Amino acid sequence: MTALFGFELKATDGAARTGVISTPRGEVRTPAFMPVGTAATVKAMMPESVRDTGADILLGNTYHLMLRPTAERIDRLGGLHRFMNWERPILTDSGGFQVMSLAGLRKLTEEGVTFKSHIDGSKHALTPERSMEIQRLLGSDIVMCFDECPALPATDEEVARAMRLSMRWAARSKEAFGDRPGHALFGIMQGGVNQELREESAQALKEIGFDGYAIGGLAVGEGQEAMFGVLDYAPGYLPQDKPRYLMGVGKPDDIVGAVKRGVDMMDCVLPSRSGRTGQVFTRHGQLNIKNARHQDDPRPLDEDCTCPACRNYSRAYLHHVFRSQEIISSMLLTWHNLHYYQQIMDGMRQAIAEGRFAEWETAFHKGREAGDI
Ligand code: GUN
Ligand code: ZN
Repeated sequence: MTALFGFELKATDGAARTGVISTPRGEVRTPAFMPVGTAATVKAMMPESVRDTGADILLGNTYHLMLRPTAERIDRLGGLHRFMNWERPILTDSGGFQVMSLAGLRKLTEEGVTFKSHIDGSKHALTPERSMEIQRLLGSDIVMCFDECPALPATDEEVARAMRLSMRWAARSKEAFGDRPGHALFGIMQGGVNQELREESAQALKEIGFDGYAIGGLAVGEGQEAMFGVLDYAPGYLPQDKPRYLMGVGKPDDIVGAVKRGVDMMDCVLPSRSGRTGQVFTRHGQLNIKNARHQDDPRPLDEDCTCPACRNYSRAYLHHVFRSQEIISSMLLTWHNLHYYQQIMDGMRQAIAEGRFAEWETAFHKGREAGDI
């Protein structure tokens, strides 16, 4: 049977892992970075170009798509994969996190959340059951439980309340998801930076039983040290034989630190969003192409990068099109950033498979020592 969802761990090196998630829509090599395609597009990129950067899977968003163009319309048009011309795996977030960070007035109850659209102020509701229905209509391959991620700063009481509500919602999500061969449902651990709450959350999720487990509630302003502090123990509370997904992370060094601590999947808007604001990530450090020091520079962003932006264009050209607000600026810089992120993932997968992750990590940090380049 190749039609079912599965995860095979191929090798470990310390806490770091490499493996393969199989789905009916193709394989996902882990550790995996998922570019964000919130509104049924990875902004400024054709789907085939996203694939060319090395992506095996994209992330889509329940919250945005339910508001526009609606899940029912996408379903009538043959599902999200066909709609956006990406036939490979798609993971969808469940909406709760985006409601909390984007929607206007909102009200949280045991039942779910009611909120006003950030687009036109219209009223909507999300519950675990409705989130599962929307993600089914979209045709998502990896469905996320409906959860609540409390905004920081939050007291331990508030973090505990949100985590326990999220665990009750996780049970309702599982019940509503039902039995869907070839599609996976992931639970989401909450609990902030509190170790006891994280352990309680992991226990609750394992009792319900999921195809994979996410670590939520991080990269919300606690800082890298506190996040790594949680990642030093949290992945260890989760089953060895299921994928672990760290939600919404992060900068290149966050990603490397997360993989080192046992994370298998991540997503972040940073490489794509930064591409549109002129922020460029390279193996030698970061730069902003807007800076006047690039205006006469004939060199590529990164001499060793094989992406189209680096193969065919100078920093001077990229500076010029950025300053002129030409569309190709977003296209080229997004391509480069996504390519760089996928190069990091590829480097880590190979290093873990060959038992030399520590050496790879040392070289990664050494390369970036120059800082702003
Ligand atoms: N994206 C980033 N963090 C989170 C989280 O805690 N929950 C959900 N659903 N999505 C996220
Ligand atoms: Zn490049």
